[in-house]
Amino acid sequence: MTAVDTMHTRVNEIIDTCGENRANSLLVLQEIQHEYNYLPRTALEQVADRMEIPLSEVYHLATFYRHFSLSPKGDFCLRVCMGTACHVHGAPRILEAFERELGIKAGESTADGTYSLEATGCLGACAQAPIMMVNEEAHPQITAADVPDVLEQCQCALPEQ
Ligand code: FES
Repeated sequence: MTAVDTMHTRVNEIIDTCGENRANSLLVLQEIQHEYNYLPRTALEQVADRMEIPLSEVYHLATFYRHFSLSPKGDFCLRVCMGTACHVHGAPRILEAFERELGIKAGESTADGTYSLEATGCLGACAQAPIMMVNEEAHPQITAADVPDVLEQCQCALPEQ
């Protein structure tokens, strides 16, 4: 079975579980995002087809909500808060340090698919500024000097090749 077939089967299962009524379309997209860490184009087409929703409407939902992504994410999604409190406490220097260490810009992923780097709005923890997230884990009061340690922790968490 190819990867496309596997995805087709899995997306069908998600739609079966959530219900194919169009009122459940947001829930279906959330489940697909959770499964693949982004919303693959073929999955969106399948949702539109099976749930009888115009593809443009599916894309509207997929681009309206910030937690959806239309491009693949790395194993580690690094999100550096650039809200006001974090900005004044040095967030730009932290973001620059990640960009330098990884050789990518915010909004990009490393070629090996290990890291995605994002600059985000306020994460709602301003008292702990500057703060960043590694996937769902918060790293409060971080400095640019901590960046190599954060990346080393990620490397250690990777399964042995
Ligand atoms: S500005 Fe960064 S958590 Fe609020």
